Amino acid sequence: MNPLQWTLISLLFFTSAIAQTFKNVDSHPKFPCEPPHFSSYPFCNVSLSIRQRALSIVSLLTLPEKIGQLSNTAASVPRLGIPPYEWWSESLHGIADNGPGVSFNGSISSATSFPQVIVTTASFNRTLWYEIGSAVAVEGRAMYNGGQAGLTFWAPNINVFRDPRWGRGQETPGEDPKVVSEYGVEFVRGFQEIRKKTKVLKRRIGDDEVVVDNRHDDDGDGKLMLSACCKHYTAYDLEKWGNFTRYDFNAVVTEQDMEDTYEPPFQSCIRDGKASCLMCSYNAVNGVPACAREDLLTKARVEWGFKGYITSDCDAVATIFEFQGYTKSPEEAVANAIKAGVDINCGTYLLRHTQSAIEKGKVSEEQVDRALVNLFAVQLRLGLFDGNPREGRYGKLGSSDICSSGHRKLALEAARQGIVLLKNDHKLLPLHKNHVSSLAIIGPMANNISNMGGTYTGKPCQRKTLFTELLKYVKKTSHVSGCSDVSCDSSSGFGEAVAIAKGADFVIVVAGLDLTQETEDKDRVSLSLPGKQRDLVSSIAAVSKKPVILVLTGGGPVDVTFAKTDPRIGSIIWIGYPGETGGQALAEILFGDFNPGGRLPMTWYPESFSKVAMSDMHMRADSSRGYPGRTYRFYTGPQVFKFGTGLSYTKFDYKIISAPVTLSLSKLLPLPSHKRLLLQHGEEQLRYLQLDDLMVNSCESLRFNVRFSVRNTGEMAGSHVLMLFSRMPPVLSGVPEKQLIGFDRVHVRSGETIKTEFVIDPCKQLSVANDVGKRVIPLGNHVLLLGDLQHSLSLEF
Ligand SMILES: *[C@@H]1O[C@H](CO)[C@@H](O)[C@H](O)[C@H]1NC(C)=O
Ligand SMILES: *[C@@H]1O[C@H](CO)[C@@H](O)[C@H](O)[C@H]1NC(C)=O
Ligand SMILES: *[C@@H]1O[C@H](CO)[C@@H](O)[C@H](O)[C@H]1NC(C)=O
Ligand SMILES: *[C@@H]1O[C@H](CO)[C@@H](O)[C@H](O)[C@H]1NC(C)=O
Ligand SMILES: *[C@@H]1O[C@H](CO)[C@@H](O)[C@H](O)[C@H]1NC(C)=O
Repeated sequence: MNPLQWTLISLLFFTSAIAQTFKNVDSHPKFPCEPPHFSSYPFCNVSLSIRQRALSIVSLLTLPEKIGQLSNTAASVPRLGIPPYEWWSESLHGIADNGPGVSFNGSISSATSFPQVIVTTASFNRTLWYEIGSAVAVEGRAMYNGGQAGLTFWAPNINVFRDPRWGRGQETPGEDPKVVSEYGVEFVRGFQEIRKKTKVLKRRIGDDEVVVDNRHDDDGDGKLMLSACCKHYTAYDLEKWGNFTRYDFNAVVTEQDMEDTYEPPFQSCIRDGKASCLMCSYNAVNGVPACAREDLLTKARVEWGFKGYITSDCDAVATIFEFQGYTKSPEEAVANAIKAGVDINCGTYLLRHTQSAIEKGKVSEEQVDRALVNLFAVQLRLGLFDGNPREGRYGKLGSSDICSSGHRKLALEAARQGIVLLKNDHKLLPLHKNHVSSLAIIGPMANNISNMGGTYTGKPCQRKTLFTELLKYVKKTSHVSGCSDVSCDSSSGFGEAVAIAKGADFVIVVAGLDLTQETEDKDRVSLSLPGKQRDLVSSIAAVSKKPVILVLTGGGPVDVTFAKTDPRIGSIIWIGYPGETGGQALAEILFGDFNPGGRLPMTWYPESFSKVAMSDMHMRADSSRGYPGRTYRFYTGPQVFKFGTGLSYTKFDYKIISAPVTLSLSKLLPLPSHKRLLLQHGEEQLRYLQLDDLMVNSCESLRFNVRFSVRNTGEMAGSHVLMLFSRMPPVLSGVPEKQLIGFDRVHVRSGETIKTEFVIDPCKQLSVANDVGKRVIPLGNHVLLLGDLQHSLSLEF
């Protein structure tokens, strides 16, 4: 969301809505179905089904009352006892006040600020992702009880981090569609699910094999603790670059990339996460604005089983006419969006133009009714119409459940697990507490908490900087900024920085990005460190007694090849935007109180990549036009750090215990179809099988296990992220270099060997989209890759 944009277009209408809100608060109920007057409506009767109740509300509304529901700031319906409702609350990595639904102006003045999503993702720990979703939901419900938040939140952001310059790449779970999908599912489940106190979480290692007993307890009619939103659907990953803006950008996407990069996270978020909201994006997809793509929005409901409401991004209905010029009038934009399946508009466009669109015959009242049933159904599932929220299941949650020690510890855990050690020459780290008499920490971000959260940060519970936390380890720690800010336009502060560096035992330089470089509505142009930051790092490295420790901030990758190759820079650590406990996590890692195990969820490209047009959505390389491709799956050019890079203070060895050598796919088809398929193909040898629905249903029987052991051969206990990739035979065009087919984070004590396994579904993990966007399984030799180990698996038919 872009508050400025939103404000500009909506100011007039929003202020009038607020005025109305306050008027109603005085003379009307605080919650729907408030006894004694308003509890007798059929929609308040909890023994009826959600759908019956939703239909009942809609049947009682007049057309103007209906239209009043179509904005994020939904109007009250005083005669039915329905107060106004604000749909727009944010919770990307903690409750945040970017939308009007959340306020920290009240008895609750802060909420736990977890690390930015890209950092949490780097832990590759599904349990952690789920637990953060749950913790944020508890704080959200508590803030709702205090009148400081809504029940509908617009997170997670599950667009794939396609281009390293993207200002919102930090908000996403990285560049791999499988990782993005799984993060989305865990967060949404943690956030939405009604939890039973007795619930036992039982998980098994391996892809898709989350064996958990009653996590799908949906308590009857799909009851929700809170509502999460999969955004932004789809192919949205450009803010403002060159002449392009997200408001008018047309993402030209091939069917192949659509099927195996852009769609999977949304499919999983809806089908497996059971998210109750989907947000369509500003951009057009192949010429049609995303919020007018009836085919895509219908696919979500019909094929993926979406049950929930579809919201536009803020003013993304207005942009259909005003920025995209896709329709001839505002009414047509409104009609297009509603008919495509949009149920509510963030902004006021539907409020303003729906009446006239109906009068002009562009859209019918029945179509508006469909939208309203979807909207009220979600509110009903949230318990909004079940009476006094204070007496409900979550009624007791309050300020003591916010910034609780458990939540802050979880935030700390996320930062610890997500921080990535990228270089550690001659075991410079960890530092030995008793052998460090003095430290210097240099850089504009070293003592500034406001840079530590990334976008969508609310009001953190605590405000401790990197510098403050280091002081706890070494009393004699000094700090200077070196550069006045992250843009670092001047070297006038270098002298002072060099002076403290010379005097210290060990020196830490904090460099990288903050939100002045990358944020919503702002992409980067270059991948290098901003301004004179590189000179600062090198000047310090030239004078310090020992090799320096370089700490990098920011969500997007930076080209630090100079530091990687400079022996005077001994260690490099990426902390991203580590949230309110990032300082403590970094200090613990520097001094060996925590052994780092995070791994990069995105490729770090060299500066030369900035020649590639950001507007080019192709994932696959095309040598005929010098296009290098994107992400570790398709890019083969030079890299600064690869996807999955991450060191530890200890060493891990792998052994494959068992994995099949051949796999017959004959089971996939009944005999007659075998024949048809072979005949159709017209070649002597079949090179791949096209998966159709029939086949996918029989895939389960082909699942196989890859069993292996991991041994910690070093001296320190540590957690390790296992990543199993596969490389398929290049029997059709656009086959990836390799793709991640399983990941898991395990803890292994020094000297210990643990056994573990991945369960592989060949239809899902060993398939790829062909050039018309159909999934196929290549036959022949697939290579499974685990660290340096390779295992050949022949797929036969
Ligand atoms: C609620 O609905 C049930 C089922 O239709 C019905 O039996 C009951 O009388 C209703 N209760 C009230 C208070 O209307
Ligand atoms: C906070 O709320 C108080 C009381 O409602 C109000 O007077 C004050 O203006 C609000 N402050 C802000 C910054 O919104
Ligand atoms: C932006 O537009 C200008 C004028 O139309 C054009 O000269 C320039 O090449 C465009 N830049 C990009 C990056 O497309
Ligand atoms: C911290 O950083 C923010 C954002 O760059 C800046 O506005 C603020 O002035 C900085 N604060 C200090 C104390 O340097
Ligand atoms: C995964 O995260 C959970 C929650 O923080 C933690 O308890 C567990 O130890 C982590 N697993 C590993 C292997 O690090």
